[in-house]
Amino acid sequence: MIPPDPSPLAQAPAERHAPIPGWLTGLGLVLAFWAGGYLFLYSGGFRGDVYDPGQITWGPVSTGPVAPPDPKVIGKRLYTANCAQCHQATGLGQAGVYPPLAGVDWVTGSKHRLISILHHGLAGAITINGQLYNNNMPAWGDGAPVPLKDEQIAAILTYIRSEWGNKAEPVSTEEVALIRAATKDRKQPWSEKELLALPSDLPPAPAAK
Ligand code: HEC
Repeated sequence: MIPPDPSPLAQAPAERHAPIPGWLTGLGLVLAFWAGGYLFLYSGGFRGDVYDPGQITWGPVSTGPVAPPDPKVIGKRLYTANCAQCHQATGLGQAGVYPPLAGVDWVTGSKHRLISILHHGLAGAITINGQLYNNNMPAWGDGAPVPLKDEQIAAILTYIRSEWGNKAEPVSTEEVALIRAATKDRKQPWSEKELLALPSDLPPAPAAK
């Protein structure tokens, strides 16, 4: 029997260098090549607008000047998503529960009142085209769980003011922003009485600095 080597060096684990196995290097190269090819095909040219939820059609990505999307088309889509379940696609609402938007002065008349209704909602008794409603319309502005942007509210209002036989001028993003700023401290929905007490015209825009 060989006696055990008493020197501590002989028992310490030896540190050794092994070269990276060739198959691993090969696998790395193959993966890098595949990843490059994947990015080439699916990165969308690293363009920020490739995924655009506001996009309406899926035409080829053009690089030339793009016509701005028609606010009425966007307005209709937003109306269908947010308003139609109550006011219906026909704009006729549901008698006694959800008032109509077609042929109604609240929609085609004062922008000040209409934009105010959209920002903070409407509650309590209100007579619309001779019929009494006493229900709640949710807020879509700052008080809403997911507030609509000014340009979205403008697009919806432009749509409802020109659909179903309504013929009123469009509502601009600036006009919606003006009322947002003027009512930023408000928390409650409007009542019919408060709305009627508002001036029918929009407040003057703050002077440009
Ligand atoms: C949950 C149902 C509901 C939804 C969703 C809703 N509304 Fe209303 N809306 C009402 C009710 C109810 C009233 C009347 C409130 C009352 O009785 O005081 C009203 C009133 C209105 C009025 C004023 C009265 C009239 O008939 O013109 C306008 C304008 C209006 N809504 C527009 C909209 C728009 C635009 C949207 C989408 C952004 C929308 N509403 C979404 C229920 C709803």
